[in-house]
Amino acid sequence: MHSRAAAAATPSSLPSRLAATIFPVLLLGLAALLTTSLIAPKAHAADASTAATAAATTHTLIIDTDPGADDVIALLFAMASPEQLKIQALTTVAGNVPLAKTSRNARLAREWAKRPDIAIYAGAPRPLLRTPIYAADIHGSEGITGVKVHEPSQPLAEGNAVDYLIRTLRAAPEKSVTLAMLGPETNLALALTQAPDITRGLRELVLMGGAHFNGGNITPTAEFNVFADPHAAEIVLKSGVPITMLPLDLTHKVLTSPERIARLRGLGNQAGKTVADILDAYVQHDMQYYGLPGGPVHDATVVAYLLQPSLFRGRKVNVEVDSREGLGFGQTVVDWYGGLKKPANVNWIAEGDAQGFFDLLTQRISRLP
Ligand code: BDR
Ligand code: CA
Repeated sequence: MHSRAAAAATPSSLPSRLAATIFPVLLLGLAALLTTSLIAPKAHAADASTAATAAATTHTLIIDTDPGADDVIALLFAMASPEQLKIQALTTVAGNVPLAKTSRNARLAREWAKRPDIAIYAGAPRPLLRTPIYAADIHGSEGITGVKVHEPSQPLAEGNAVDYLIRTLRAAPEKSVTLAMLGPETNLALALTQAPDITRGLRELVLMGGAHFNGGNITPTAEFNVFADPHAAEIVLKSGVPITMLPLDLTHKVLTSPERIARLRGLGNQAGKTVADILDAYVQHDMQYYGLPGGPVHDATVVAYLLQPSLFRGRKVNVEVDSREGLGFGQTVVDWYGGLKKPANVNWIAEGDAQGFFDLLTQRISRLP
């Protein structure tokens, strides 16, 4: 978009225009080659997608979320990174707990991060078609573990999240807005259904959801965010917008440890203590249930991916959602080996640098009050 605008604004001869166009492309290609071969760790040839292409680290960003203990940590992480993440708004959806509580918890995160400049719009109170489900067994009845909640003074923004998404994406320059999605994908599915043209304003969707190698966390085959609204996930995955998914395959490898939580607690600020308190309570269930040495912080990996994509490894694959009644309901069917010969619609992140993730999280949380 920028290069096209610049070319149109600068009249010049064809050869010099070609040179002006080709030379920066060659330089960029050379830089990408050097970065990939000298800096990035070795990967399977088909896995090279992420590190090679995801060099950009600033985003005009909307975060769609269902807080949720790990959502709150993701929100604090994002709000502590204003030089890279230009957060336009948060939009909330029913998921881990009902909408009134996810919206209250998003407002709490905003208050804790002292970011009153960020508007929060409440969205869909229930999934498109299926019966609503919640995850209070993991996130507690208030949706945040380990800390006391209260009613924040700053209210929600007037209006609905779905209308906000349509209005904002229609007005945005082409391919300019990144949408991070940390819960069921109902809001975007509704927006896409009402206004399919909004895909034009989207640069990328980066979402926490799905499971393939790991198996599910809500059924043997399904991950919670997709299972909570598979019909919405289907619409989103078929939207044609570039999508990066951070599934359980990744998040169950990026685990807390007592030392990692202690570093957050030891930062000396309130935010470090809040994140450590949330994690201490939140990781217990998963450590016991899965026999893991630490707990995942699912949604925060989305923020780390936005800030430092070189921490992650993915493969571009075809992903479809099973929304039929039965054992596979809510499953993400991932064609890892390309056997179906269908076009790749998702950059599926399967590996990540766990220590790099916690170093970045800790460094950013240290900036907050
Ligand atoms: C996802 O489900 C929710 O419970 C978490 O907040 C995360 O978004 C993990 O499966
Ligand atoms: Ca979530």
